[in-house]
Amino acid sequence: MNKGEQLYEGKAKKVFQTEDPNLLIVSYKDDATAFNGLKKGTIAGKGVINNKMSNLLMQYLAKQGVPTHFVEELNDRDTLVKKVTIVPLEVIVRNISAGSFAKRFGVEEGIVFKQPTVEFSYKNDALEDPLINDDQALALGIVERSELDTIRTYALKVDEVLKEFWKDAGVTLVDFKLEFGRLPDGTIILADEISPDTCRLWDSETGEKLDKDRFRRDLGGVEEAYQEIMQRLIKNIEQR
Ligand code: TMP
Repeated sequence: MNKGEQLYEGKAKKVFQTEDPNLLIVSYKDDATAFNGLKKGTIAGKGVINNKMSNLLMQYLAKQGVPTHFVEELNDRDTLVKKVTIVPLEVIVRNISAGSFAKRFGVEEGIVFKQPTVEFSYKNDALEDPLINDDQALALGIVERSELDTIRTYALKVDEVLKEFWKDAGVTLVDFKLEFGRLPDGTIILADEISPDTCRLWDSETGEKLDKDRFRRDLGGVEEAYQEIMQRLIKNIEQR
């Protein structure tokens, strides 16, 4: 499958048409942004790692009953995916307080929740992705009730599966962001990516951050953290 016209360039990926109207190619870049694009940089090798990691995790999730857009890894940076209409919600699942949750509610990072929390942000750069509740999303007409139910069920399933997966790799899954899309027949599937850009991953022993927070917070060792988390994933996948 060859790249056709570029449809879109996002902060971390480009999206291309293919000869099949139902398939797209996503191409992962090394570019990194934070704070809605205010902070810009590159993380050498990130695109290769995020492509591979997202593909391995999505294949693993599909086996556990979560349908995804993944079709085929084409090369280090490019992957063939099913074309979907993205539901404009950032679906965030949290197991432990961190980031915007800690800031918004004035609590420290690291509080382990009794149960996972699911929250939604409205994907809208101009509005800086505001938090949105179910009723507000329904009022805006961006999603239907039944779709929200499906999305929540899948998001919690992803959490259950990935929490266990990362635990076996010596990593605590703190929180993560998912995006879902609709196939032409309306079926909801997992889309976008699952990577250190979109997850908080802490070493279970030391608490060391092995994710994009190293870039967001200028902690140094960004490339090394991406490589380390990828190695742990590969080792853990091989054992399964
Ligand atoms: P937050 O604590 O900043 O709301 O982030 C929650 C999770 O979502 C964290 O794992 C990072 C991820 N995330 C994204 O993938 N994209 C984003 O634009 C933001 C703000 C967070």
